[in-house]
Amino acid sequence: MKKLGARGQKVLKTVHLLLAGLWVGGAVGLNLLIICLGPAASGEELLGYNLAAILIDDFVIIPGAMGCLLTGLLISGLTPWGFFKRKWVAIKWILTIFCILFGTFVLGPTVNNQPDITIKFGLDALANPEYQSNYFYSVLGGVFQILALAFMVIISVFKPWREKA
Ligand code: HEM
Repeated sequence: MKKLGARGQKVLKTVHLLLAGLWVGGAVGLNLLIICLGPAASGEELLGYNLAAILIDDFVIIPGAMGCLLTGLLISGLTPWGFFKRKWVAIKWILTIFCILFGTFVLGPTVNNQPDITIKFGLDALANPEYQSNYFYSVLGGVFQILALAFMVIISVFKPWREKA
């Protein structure tokens, strides 16, 4: 396949970094919001927190994650880095796909289901077992997600395991 020139590679890398920043920033923001805001004084306030979490997920994290995947695909296909020539790039592929699946099927529902519980129970949602379980797993999974993203940033910069090149 035809490879990009030096300028094209720089443009692609810039877009990749902006989107990676969006994903990491969104993940940190969402966790801060879930862990640090509160305790809510009313059902309306709690619903506001729940909706803010969904807003960050839908408009910051998901575009950042999808953008990283797409630019990762372009970098692998259109530059000499390739898909599996380097161990650190292969690991980024596996981790990125894992994080996207984990975010979509495990973390997403724990955030998206909260407003319905709050609308039903008001401030008492805080004592609801389903709400509490969603809260616990979104924090636990969220911290894991941030660690995985930080690991990907580190291996991208250090580009270790060069013997495979
Ligand atoms: C399919 C997924 C991904 C692939 C295949 C991929 C691949 C790459 C490659 C080959 C580079 C080197 C580009 C160059 O120097 O020209 C790079 C740079 C970078 N990537 Fe990714 N990436 C992916 C996802 C991510 C994710 C999820 C993050 C973090 C959230 C990330 C963060 C970075 C950073 C910080 C750099 C710049 C490192 C530097 O050169 O100093 N990437 N990526």
